[in-house]
Amino acid sequence: MVPDVQERGEAAPLKPVRLAIAGLGNVGRNFLAILQSQADLLERDGLTIRVVGAADSGGAAIDPDGLDPALLVATKQAGRSVARLPRVGRLDLPLGDLLDAARPDLFCEATPVDLRTGQPGLAAVRHALTHGIACVLANKGPLALAFQELAALSDLAGPGKPGLRFSACVGGALPTVNLGRRDLAGARITEIECILNGTSQGVLRAMEAGHSFDDAVAEMQRRGVAETDPSLDVDGWDQAVKLVILANAVLGRPTGLGDLTVRGIRDVTAAELRAAAARGERLVLLGRARRDAASGDWRFTVEPTCLPGAHPLARMGADEMGIVYRTDISGIIHATSEEVDAVPTAAAMLRDVLELHRLGALVRA
Ligand SMILES: NC(=O)c1ccc[n+]([C@@H]2O[C@H](COP(=O)([O-])OP(=O)(O)OC[C@H]3O[C@@H](n4cnc5c(N)ncnc54)[C@H](OP(=O)(O)O)[C@@H]3O)[C@@H](O)[C@H]2O)c1
Repeated sequence: MVPDVQERGEAAPLKPVRLAIAGLGNVGRNFLAILQSQADLLERDGLTIRVVGAADSGGAAIDPDGLDPALLVATKQAGRSVARLPRVGRLDLPLGDLLDAARPDLFCEATPVDLRTGQPGLAAVRHALTHGIACVLANKGPLALAFQELAALSDLAGPGKPGLRFSACVGGALPTVNLGRRDLAGARITEIECILNGTSQGVLRAMEAGHSFDDAVAEMQRRGVAETDPSLDVDGWDQAVKLVILANAVLGRPTGLGDLTVRGIRDVTAAELRAAAARGERLVLLGRARRDAASGDWRFTVEPTCLPGAHPLARMGADEMGIVYRTDISGIIHATSEEVDAVPTAAAMLRDVLELHRLGALVRA
């Protein structure tokens, strides 16, 4: 009789996790690329991934035996929809139908953010979680509008439910959600300050260097840092959504966009930036969560703010994002990152996938 692999002392072949991805733009394409470049690191963790579905705005490609990630990336780079790939392409397939047809263990969502409807991401993530499919999001829209609902469907509400992670949504690879949820466990957070919108930070620093507002925004769009609709960035709403996610996920305070006071950077002038610098200060678009002394409740703001030069967030460069947590017993913790393109955001999605894998939360319920 042939001994089985364990009796022979060989490692059993890894059962691949079946992945479907929606959104094959800057983030989605980089995510597919790093699935390949980091495959050895994933295998070290006992994780292999088979891409069984991939969607863009034209439809989807589906293959239960596995799509070639390199072909998907090359197709998008050539400006074509994956829905037109021979044999596997399906034109105009809604994301819910993609999930039903591909039956993945894991759904990665990287479609454009829509703060009015949350779609198409919200319906797709809801569909995935209710069908036992773990979700990793880069798109903030579903969380901005329905954080509590989605959390209740997921492992955030308790064991046995499909995993839900979204660290890419709040500062890309910068540890913000994980730092607050995991590393500050047991501490009371008394204040969060953050600069988590790369476009606003880049525009303000470019204006300091003498560029006009419009030229600076155009440059951020050219580099793929600005959102498809840059008004979300410069009017403060992108940073506001990130604060909403931190409020819900880290502070445990059910919070929506309506709970925030939000003012963007459109009215900031070069003269104001120069005046702040002359005083030894830095004008930044600051997100802040602070407990109101009288009511004990949180107060959330996103607004142009002058910080003293010694403040950790005042020292940041044009491509940096940062966060400061003030706590009762863990001191003051701050972290910054420099992210010049969408690769670190894709990396944050990968770390979420690995975390769910390590928790055993990638097996379809
Ligand atoms: N870029 C960053 O650095 C960054 C950082 C953090 C978070 N994010 C978030 O990540 C998400 C993706 O960003 P991105 O920069 O990759 O955007 P992007 O380059 O505009 O790509 C968006 C992708 O979504 C696809 N799409 C649009 N509508 C769709 C639909 N109904 N069904 C399926 N796919 C659809 C597009 O299809 P086509 O290819 O056919 O146009 C495209 O592939 C956004 O929510 C963004 O806020 C981005």
